[in-house]
Amino acid sequence: MPGEHDDASDLDQPGALDAIGETIPLLEGIRTARAIRRLRPDPVPRELIRKVCESGTFAPSGGNRQPWFFIAVDDPERRSWVAARYAPIFRDYIVPAMERAERQNFPERLRRNMRASLHLAEHLHEAPVLLFIAGWKRRGVLQSEAIFPCAQNVLLACRAVGLGASFTTLHRKFGEECDRMLGLPEKIPSAVMLPIGWPMGKHGIPPRESVDSKLFFNQFDSGAIQEKRAIG
Ligand SMILES: Cc1cc2nc3c(=O)[nH]c(=O)nc-3n(C[C@H](O)[C@H](O)[C@H](O)COP(=O)(O)O)c2cc1C
Repeated sequence: MPGEHDDASDLDQPGALDAIGETIPLLEGIRTARAIRRLRPDPVPRELIRKVCESGTFAPSGGNRQPWFFIAVDDPERRSWVAARYAPIFRDYIVPAMERAERQNFPERLRRNMRASLHLAEHLHEAPVLLFIAGWKRRGVLQSEAIFPCAQNVLLACRAVGLGASFTTLHRKFGEECDRMLGLPEKIPSAVMLPIGWPMGKHGIPPRESVDSKLFFNQFDSGAIQEKRAIG
């Protein structure tokens, strides 16, 4: 599949970093950009991180203010610092949810998602890059809405070049301390953290409800969604 890249060694070839990810069809890339939370510890070239962040800079933003900044943490000590704080908070949140999921017979796809999230939390220090995306506050408030489209572009670019990544915001629970560690000033807080690395598994289509249960023309119809849910 274009963009699949299981072997990083040929990235040393001249022009390889320029060429990688340039041929995957856009819509196929979007459909197959599932969250990849099992990452190999092998390093990711900084040039490739630059390339995926460049895609982030093509996101839309209010007034085209482009509030984003990227802090790519590849230093093992700093990654461990983040992981040591992320993992216990995530565990406290997810373990009761997983127990509830067992008791209440949740769909297997939701349980799989929880297990993968927990794996990420427990192996976060091994993710070769923790990419923080920060942005200027506006009127004193963190503008997640300005940073999220940028983060989504980075995720899609990761998909295109064959890197695994996922969207996380849990670090905001220790956000101020984390931003200080990253050297971010109070007026430019981080909003998102994307753990990035070469995937252990493969990209693929994530579980989603059909667009037909979500799309309405001209007017929303609550009756139809109940019917569609009952059918689904
Ligand atoms: C705003 C936002 C915050 C999220 N925060 C986290 C997080 O802190 N940790 C985590 O494991 N997943 C987090 N996720 C969820 C996943 O990254 C992912 O989007 C979801 O599990 C769907 O995965 P899929 O595309 O493979 O189906 C967040 C998603 C969004 C949109």
